[in-house]
Amino acid sequence: MASVAGPIGKALEIEAVSEGRDHTSRWRASSRMSLRQGTEWLVRRVEGLFGDRPFEAGGQVAHARLSLDTHWREDADPARRRSWGAGPSRQDAAESCVPPETNGSTIAASRFSPTASMSATLLDLFRRRFACHRFQAGRELPAADLEFILEAGRLSPSSFGLEHWKFVVLRDADRLRAMQAASFGQAQVGGASALIVILAKLAELAPDADYAQRLLAREYPGEQFAPALENYRAFFANTDVVAWSISQCHIAAANMMTAATAAGVDSCAIGGFLPGEVKRILEVREGAYEVALVLALGYCDEAAPSKQRLPLAELVDYR
Ligand SMILES: Cc1cc2nc3c(=O)[nH]c(=O)nc-3n(C[C@H](O)[C@H](O)[C@H](O)COP(=O)(O)O)c2cc1C
Repeated sequence: MASVAGPIGKALEIEAVSEGRDHTSRWRASSRMSLRQGTEWLVRRVEGLFGDRPFEAGGQVAHARLSLDTHWREDADPARRRSWGAGPSRQDAAESCVPPETNGSTIAASRFSPTASMSATLLDLFRRRFACHRFQAGRELPAADLEFILEAGRLSPSSFGLEHWKFVVLRDADRLRAMQAASFGQAQVGGASALIVILAKLAELAPDADYAQRLLAREYPGEQFAPALENYRAFFANTDVVAWSISQCHIAAANMMTAATAAGVDSCAIGGFLPGEVKRILEVREGAYEVALVLALGYCDEAAPSKQRLPLAELVDYR
């Protein structure tokens, strides 16, 4: 049994115990603010910790079991009321611990900060994602993980809020083989557990299209709609619509690849394909969509390469 314990300030104490695969952390909060921060942090943390679907999408803990017990004890003196909450793991407790240099008198945001923990998790995901060029054969992608990845795409930002993407999921072996042939024979396309073909909307974006007007009315309700539509008309007339729509889809693609990593799923963005061939396979009506990108998903059969990126100093110009 391993355990860490100790007061980390006047308002919060954490005790964490690991026994085999069971991890328990117990917080003792004596201020409402620390209790609230802790609880909110825990709710957000569960998704990142287990690569889960969001709660509002009916998510379930997929890779572990989480239990949460809350105990309240009302001290005789109301000024000394305390509560206890059991968190999911020792790692959580460790991440909530106070950096030694901070002043221990209060639980400031830096001591018990959901943001700091989430930032570290997010950066870790970015570092871990890599373009997989060979997937394990015959390994299925759980439907819950696929939905989680698609949900990350759905929640992506888009110009004018027009949600330029349509996601076509392919899993059938014959279709994957056809897609591989349309992608210059790239093995990771045919060998993926699933492909998400991201189609960029075209016809629906026209200012007079029902779709564009419905979404613009949602983004610019009431009196804002008429001037927003005029503004959109002017923008549309002066824009390379295909390139603009595809670029929105690439934002969704990036989010989906990060989400895939969070769910333990490997990916490869595929831009090397013959768009005409892909549209033929998917029976896309001419002018309705352009093919933005294909995401190959599965479980990689090769070691992750070391990350090669230019240093920020070479990329960033502060002015
Ligand atoms: C828009 C786009 C298109 C890409 N197309 C392909 C492709 O067709 N085939 C491929 O093997 N990799 C493709 N990649 C993956 C890149 O080669 C890869 O992301 C890059 O080399 C950096 O490596 P990393 O992702 O492992 O960090 C594509 C990536 C992006 C963003």
